Amino acid sequence: MDLQTKINAAAQYLLDRVALRPTVGLVLGSGLGDYADTLEEAVRVPFGEIPNFPLPTVAGHSGMLVFGRKMGRTVVVLQGRIHYYEGLPQQETTLPIRVLAAIGVKTLVLTNACGGVNTAFHPGDLMLISDHINFSGSNPLIGPNLDQFGPRFPDCSDLYTRSLRKAVKEKAASVGIDLQEGVYAMYSGPNYETPAEIRMFRTLGADAVGMSTVPEALVAGHCAMQVLGISCITNMAAGVLPQKLSHAEVMETAARVHDTFHTLVDAVLTVIEE
Ligand code: HPA
Repeated sequence: MDLQTKINAAAQYLLDRVALRPTVGLVLGSGLGDYADTLEEAVRVPFGEIPNFPLPTVAGHSGMLVFGRKMGRTVVVLQGRIHYYEGLPQQETTLPIRVLAAIGVKTLVLTNACGGVNTAFHPGDLMLISDHINFSGSNPLIGPNLDQFGPRFPDCSDLYTRSLRKAVKEKAASVGIDLQEGVYAMYSGPNYETPAEIRMFRTLGADAVGMSTVPEALVAGHCAMQVLGISCITNMAAGVLPQKLSHAEVMETAARVHDTFHTLVDAVLTVIEE
């Protein structure tokens, strides 16, 4: 079955099963998934029940599509995402993003846990993604172009929608949240980077590094969605501090910023026009 046929089948299944018609999509990163539990009128659909949906395998990612309402917006949340390091090609890990586009989502908010490359950052900081470096080693747009969604050679000069970022920064300041802003570099993982790789990323202009988000942003941009990215700096990247990196630290920091993260995502929703 070709990719477009798979996407159409998944989209039709969701349109038939769920009455809500979300215009905003939200992808929740490692340790950040419980924001989905705050939705009103929630309708939950396990990834496993949606035709052709890939299934996440990493701890902390449950694999649930949650439809609902929040801050007056109709939203759909991907609670748990598929990472490239799990083994599927990026065309398949990003299939859920195209399905969201096919059911009418116009704005995508991507969140992630990541390592701080910028030495002025601290674990627990929240960073608005201004731009990215695709260092993943692949690209989700490789292969036959899906003309139904967008062009062969999409422009990426305003991938993380500037006007929305401006509105988010103003709103965050008004609710007392300090927001960093910077460039997110994607590394495939699953190992954390080496200190030499982190020095390279800093030289290349990255402020943060992680194993997700970039393929989803590229696909969303191809589908002409507006995109916002919010990174939680859960740890300083390898070699910045004399300590080891661990998934436990990532989850601990994500838990520590829980309340601020929820406040920020609420604020983000209020600046998105339906
Ligand atoms: N590197 C890559 N991915 C990550 C990190 C990191 O330091 N922290 C959380 N996700």
